[in-house]
Amino acid sequence: MAAPPSTSCVLLVAVLMSCSLSLCSSSNLLNILSTDRNFTILYNAFYQSGELQSLEERTQVNGTAFVFFAPIDGSFVDFGYEVMECITRQENFKNVFSQVLRYFQVTTIKRQVNTVQDLAAVAVDAKLWTVLGQPIQVFVSGTEVILANEDGTDQTVVTKAMVTDTNVTLIVLEKGVLLSSQVRNQIMNTCFPPPPESAPPSSMPIALPYY
Ligand SMILES: *[C@@H]1O[C@H](CO)[C@@H](O)[C@H](O)[C@H]1NC(C)=O
Ligand SMILES: *[C@@H]1O[C@H](CO)[C@@H](O)[C@H](O)[C@H]1NC(C)=O
Ligand SMILES: *[C@@H]1O[C@H](CO)[C@@H](O)[C@H](O)[C@H]1NC(C)=O
Repeated sequence: MAAPPSTSCVLLVAVLMSCSLSLCSSSNLLNILSTDRNFTILYNAFYQSGELQSLEERTQVNGTAFVFFAPIDGSFVDFGYEVMECITRQENFKNVFSQVLRYFQVTTIKRQVNTVQDLAAVAVDAKLWTVLGQPIQVFVSGTEVILANEDGTDQTVVTKAMVTDTNVTLIVLEKGVLLSSQVRNQIMNTCFPPPPESAPPSSMPIALPYY
């Protein structure tokens, strides 16, 4: 005898809910991010900003490769305490931290990236165009592969590439977070807004925290 509609409905809702929370059939990339203790800040930021589903979808696109830059927890020290406190406020996860995360993703790459050296090979005019719309510059110096933001004001060295799924590569950012200048400006405007024009001039210079 079939279960009454109300029961099957409850079961269906339960299945759908557990799927959306755990993303049902996750890519290895998401499994690594959610379980590897090096990536707790990164994973939480994806979760809180509502970007987890988009990330998962980018790992599932057929016929083209995807590269994801993943800062370990220690790399976020770069941002400094005040910036981290600000961008992890609930409203700023969606407005600001999500922009940081979009700069870590490069889609529609022409072949699978197996090593950090491959980043230079797949770059076009030494640039990888990110989901954010701003490029990451790639330079090879001897055995080192150096990434720089769009205007070269932020740089980091990468050594570790992990192919997690077909055509999906995780590049570990172990030495720091790479921040787009555009996003840095957005962080400054959001977290440290300039005083209104009409305010009397302050005798104290305003110290902006370095990050
Ligand atoms: C995470 O950290 C541990 C300890 O430092 C290291 O052995 C491991 O390879 C790291 N995982 C990734 C993906 O970098
Ligand atoms: C990608 O390919 C797999 C295996 O061939 C297929 O099951 C899946 O539906 C495809 N996904 C898309 C978005 O086309
Ligand atoms: C992997 O990406 C390459 C090009 O980037 C593509 O030719 C190939 O079909 C992709 N493989 C799969 C399984 O999507």
